[in-house]
Amino acid sequence: MIIVVATTTSSKIRLAHVCSECGSAHPKWAGQCSGCGAWNTLEAEQVGARPATVAPSGAAVPIGDIDVLAASPHPTGLAELDRVLGGGIVPGSVTLVGGEPGVGKSTLLLQLLAWWPGPALYVTAEESAQQVRLRAGRLGAVRPDLWLLAETALPHVLAAVDELAPSLVVVDSIQTVHDPELGSPPGSLGQVRGCAHELVALAKRRDVPVVLVGHVTKEGSLAGPRVLEHTVDSVLAFDGDRHHALRLLRAVKHRYGPTSELGLFEMTGKGLVGVPDASALFLGDRRTGVPGSAVVPTMEGQRPLVIEVQALTTPAPPQVPARRTTQGVDANRLALLLAVLQQRAGVAVAQHDVYASTVGGVRLVEPGADLAVCLALVSAYTGRSLPPDLAAFGEVGLGGELRQTAHAQRRLTEAARLGFRRAIVPAASPDVATMQVVRVATLAEALVAAGLVE
Ligand code: TYD
Ligand code: MG
Repeated sequence: MIIVVATTTSSKIRLAHVCSECGSAHPKWAGQCSGCGAWNTLEAEQVGARPATVAPSGAAVPIGDIDVLAASPHPTGLAELDRVLGGGIVPGSVTLVGGEPGVGKSTLLLQLLAWWPGPALYVTAEESAQQVRLRAGRLGAVRPDLWLLAETALPHVLAAVDELAPSLVVVDSIQTVHDPELGSPPGSLGQVRGCAHELVALAKRRDVPVVLVGHVTKEGSLAGPRVLEHTVDSVLAFDGDRHHALRLLRAVKHRYGPTSELGLFEMTGKGLVGVPDASALFLGDRRTGVPGSAVVPTMEGQRPLVIEVQALTTPAPPQVPARRTTQGVDANRLALLLAVLQQRAGVAVAQHDVYASTVGGVRLVEPGADLAVCLALVSAYTGRSLPPDLAAFGEVGLGGELRQTAHAQRRLTEAARLGFRRAIVPAASPDVATMQVVRVATLAEALVAAGLVE
């Protein structure tokens, strides 16, 4: 008989003398077993090499034998959310939805729960059950399979999941649940991290998708939830201007698909409504023939979006540094473009206050929008408006050259679809039917082609 005396604290191998009759172990050899009294039964054994208590989490298998269908996404019923997630929610995955308070996170997830086929659990650790019930009524989320738990203590949440065995769990929010066993105070980083770890373990153990809501501060850091980015499978950022109905959903991290897709929603009286034709929405309020307005076909992931950039310039008072104010346009990028306009195209904007913004709360982060920003600026500065059927894109270099940007064909096709007939673009851009494509090599040439300077 062989008995192994396990030592879980030390990985050192040591010898024990184990009785072959009764199995009792002795640190030293002896002629008689102290356990059963038998003589000459002790045998030397190696013990303590491995902790005997670690259960394997899975055996190695040939890679081709893995069932990929088990990890295929389930559609969410919200086409724009599916677009961002690359098809839907994957079983056993943990998704963090971050956004500023009031942007519509709870609304989005209630709409997801309203549609979800199967039992689902919504844990509200922020709003009362009555508040959620009222909202659910308006969103059509009152259905027999949807369970509501108004609870902040994590052990109760875990117990509810064990009892109800839902096929989707939403925890709103991760900052307001706490685990009394963790010791750190509620709301602390330790709590956020600890609770998230337990919910991730739950998702993997039960193979149930878990969605966590995380509040983001105005500064944009997922204060608290940022520390969770490596813990969860996917991080979605939900943002948009509070005073504007448009909401943008992006994947910041996504283990199951691309992170470049953009989802667009409009907040209405009946919750969030997907916006499939966003360009039409962005251009809806445009007034043509006004100086300071330019149109750019920009790219958000694989999605072309045609949007309007606006600019305004006014002479700054003498001895006061000129002011630059932006909304939706990167302030550093604007400073760079103003310097290039001044030095390479002879547009003396240094002593002017400059305002630049995008319409609809969209943020222009790609350099392909440079040319349109410059055209809007020069149009405002000269008081000359751009032709109403003109669109423009291209990256502006420090030498005043116009550089090629990715997806030229898709940008042009989208602009043509919306009725634009002329485009000023970098030299190597392709041709598009129904459109006059004007190729230029420099910013200065572009200003002439647009009719802004002679
Ligand atoms: P909410 O989902 O509570 O935001 P978050 O969870 O991110 O803090 O949504 C907040 C705003 O959305 C609130 O000001 C009201 C508005 N809203 C609508 O306009 N229509 C609706 O149908 C709902 C449910 C909310
Ligand atoms: Mg909320």
